[in-house]
Amino acid sequence: MGVDPDFWRGRRVLLTGHTGFKGAWLALWLQSLGARVTGFSKDVPTQPSLYELARVREGMDSVTGDVRDHEQVAAAVAQAAPEIVIHMAAQSLVRRSFAQPRETYETNVMGTVNLLDAVRVQGKEVRAVVNVTSDKCYENREWEWGYREDEPMGGHDPYSSSKGAAELVTDAYRRSFFAAPDGPRVASARAGNVIGGGDWGEDRLLPDVMRAALADETVRVRNPNSIRPWQHVLNPLSGYLVLAQALWDSPAHAGGWNFGPPEQDARPVGAIVQRAGELWPGGVRCTLDDGPHPHEARYLKLDSSRARQRLGWAPVIGLDSAIEQTVRWYLALKAGKDMREVTLEQIESCSRPAAGPV
Ligand SMILES: NC(=O)c1ccc[n+]([C@@H]2O[C@H](COP(=O)([O-])OP(=O)(O)OC[C@H]3O[C@@H](n4cnc5c(N)ncnc54)[C@H](O)[C@@H]3O)[C@@H](O)[C@H]2O)c1
Repeated sequence: MGVDPDFWRGRRVLLTGHTGFKGAWLALWLQSLGARVTGFSKDVPTQPSLYELARVREGMDSVTGDVRDHEQVAAAVAQAAPEIVIHMAAQSLVRRSFAQPRETYETNVMGTVNLLDAVRVQGKEVRAVVNVTSDKCYENREWEWGYREDEPMGGHDPYSSSKGAAELVTDAYRRSFFAAPDGPRVASARAGNVIGGGDWGEDRLLPDVMRAALADETVRVRNPNSIRPWQHVLNPLSGYLVLAQALWDSPAHAGGWNFGPPEQDARPVGAIVQRAGELWPGGVRCTLDDGPHPHEARYLKLDSSRARQRLGWAPVIGLDSAIEQTVRWYLALKAGKDMREVTLEQIESCSRPAAGPV
């Protein structure tokens, strides 16, 4: 099963976090599929942003609101009358969660409560909810095997534990309020580090490298030997879309789902920086940032067999191509290209039937 344009055409979708990095990519993708998208976000989190550069706002309704405010969330659900809800709004940064733990929990945990409760009370036409959490929701036992969906939730830092808690909230709401087969079907999606054009998140590797490249500055790289699982942003986004389609078809798909990259795409930070530098004309200067750094959990691998077997999902963009597409996106920006067109073209090329799984 792939992303089905017939399914999405005319579909009413509420997407929280649409001004963020992943949200802006998904909002554009949904627009290109002909969905009627309403976005709900607090702000545009970075300057510059994919949301503004690709003029994402042009093809959708956009509501400014705070997921911590339950009345605002309920009003947005009532107004948009969505059939499908995809929840991405979050305080998404591990490092910031050390500086702002309370805000992180309020946004990521109570924001999820407010959204699910608004669906419970106002979501008369909602049939599928996909709550986007993170691979960091699992209690990281620092072991070498892939984590499966039924593994215990946890998290060392406030961000990770807020995502584990958001999973527990989702599970409790599913069992308490959304168990009826004809009611909303609620799933959660767990994916790891994503890369792609248009990310300006702070303390994220490729944004740091691309920012430095565009400004002709030196990038400071932490932990170059740390191995991380990388994937292009469109890979997990295709998983979220396929999951929503499957939920629509059957309540049996309600539950947690991993969307991780293939094993060979777990590579050291230094190798990613080196490859990006090779692709950037003139290269990128880098230096070692030897800290001190807050605690960073070791590599956590997802086992995505369930999504592969039951949803027929597979990532279509391998890591080499992901780095290439990402660098090409920033080069297009530097060249003054129309970034809406460039972004839509990257979405289109990943959705072509010829694109096979990696
Ligand atoms: N980017 C990654 O590598 C990654 C990895 C794993 C999981 N995720 C998860 O995917 C989702 C999207 O990530 P992203 O990288 O696009 O994040 P981002 O930081 O780029 O965007 C966050 C979005 O949430 C909105 N938001 C933040 N606080 C809000 C609030 N209180 N009320 C309403 N809206 C609020 C922002 O306005 C923005 O639209 C998040 O849930 C994140 O935790 C991201």
